[in-house]
Amino acid sequence: MKLFDVYPLFDVEIVRGKGCAVFDTNGTEYLDLYGGHAVISVGHCHPHYVEALKKQVETLGFYSNSVHNSLQSRLASLLGSISGYDDYQLFLINSGAEANENALKLAAFHTGRRRVVAFGKAFHGRTSLAVEATDNRKIVSPVNDNHIVTFVPLGDIEAVRRELAHDDVAAVIVEGIQGVGGVQIPADDFLQQLRKECDAHGTVLVLDEIQSGYGRSGRFFAHQYSGIRPDIITVAKGIANGFPMGGLLISPKFKPVYGMLGTTFGGNHLGCAAAIAVLEIFEKENLVENARQVGEYLLTELRKLPGIKDVRGRGLMIGLEFEQPIKELRLRLLHEQHVFTGASGTNVLRLLPPLVLTKNQAEDFITRLKRVL
Ligand SMILES: Cc1ncc(COP(=O)(O)O)c(C=O)c1O
Repeated sequence: MKLFDVYPLFDVEIVRGKGCAVFDTNGTEYLDLYGGHAVISVGHCHPHYVEALKKQVETLGFYSNSVHNSLQSRLASLLGSISGYDDYQLFLINSGAEANENALKLAAFHTGRRRVVAFGKAFHGRTSLAVEATDNRKIVSPVNDNHIVTFVPLGDIEAVRRELAHDDVAAVIVEGIQGVGGVQIPADDFLQQLRKECDAHGTVLVLDEIQSGYGRSGRFFAHQYSGIRPDIITVAKGIANGFPMGGLLISPKFKPVYGMLGTTFGGNHLGCAAAIAVLEIFEKENLVENARQVGEYLLTELRKLPGIKDVRGRGLMIGLEFEQPIKELRLRLLHEQHVFTGASGTNVLRLLPPLVLTKNQAEDFITRLKRVL
């Protein structure tokens, strides 16, 4: 059997990782400024993480959501206290798309409405309603095209007002920082106005923090720069450092009903052990603050470089926009300088390193980048 060939691949196979370094089949070391697409939060193969997973798989890998699982409660309690959302409720699933799918479903249950407002250039995943709320018609198949989602430009509060005025919108969904859309930061006052409009019209505000959350922005959640509290926050990617996991942080105003949401694998023992280890490492190594400091250093130094049209971001979520396509630059970074980077569209180089990136490694990256600019 052959693989279903949907991924354009770099001609490299990564077989080992340590901290911010990954190694290919020849033993060549690469500096990882991509984190496997913002997934590696505490670094590759962190010893505490490895130990926690080993121990758990030797004890119990999986049992269903029909019995108590105190690992889930421990995770909820740790996440509540580290994120400042102690009073929220946690629902666990397996991916980012699934998190958004469940968030929008919950919003619709809660309001009895079926419309959703999303933003231009948004990316919320590839499943049913998550992909319909993604502003890329190429990946929306006819079965997903149900005319439930209306897109308005990011930052255009008047356009949001016009849509919410019908009092038929279940949810507004917005990324803490748009990733796929090119590292676009919604203005703090835009998020504050969004919060007010949603309150005024009984619409649920969903913050997709799948890429921008979990410390990446230098705050636990990117929206915390604006001081707002969304009704539902969705998380995935870095929450279990590569073990597939997603979650919803749900405001106390939502009352759970048996059976309204559910999953086989979500919140399984191995995933919870991974996610708990991640938060323990966050606390012990002060990773949110590290992301803020190293991110600030990177942003300052990158802004001094010639030939880059715009450098934007927060913490360790950084976009470098060029006048010209970056495909060649990315390939040279990979094959000549041995640095992994990400991209948004054709012209934006995206940096999403593990949050353990040190200032020395950031400096090293800048040296390597200068050589190919
Ligand atoms: C902001 C955002 N939301 C949702 C998703 C979908 O997550 P997953 O690929 O785990 O389904 C992504 C993935 O890149 C994302 O960046």
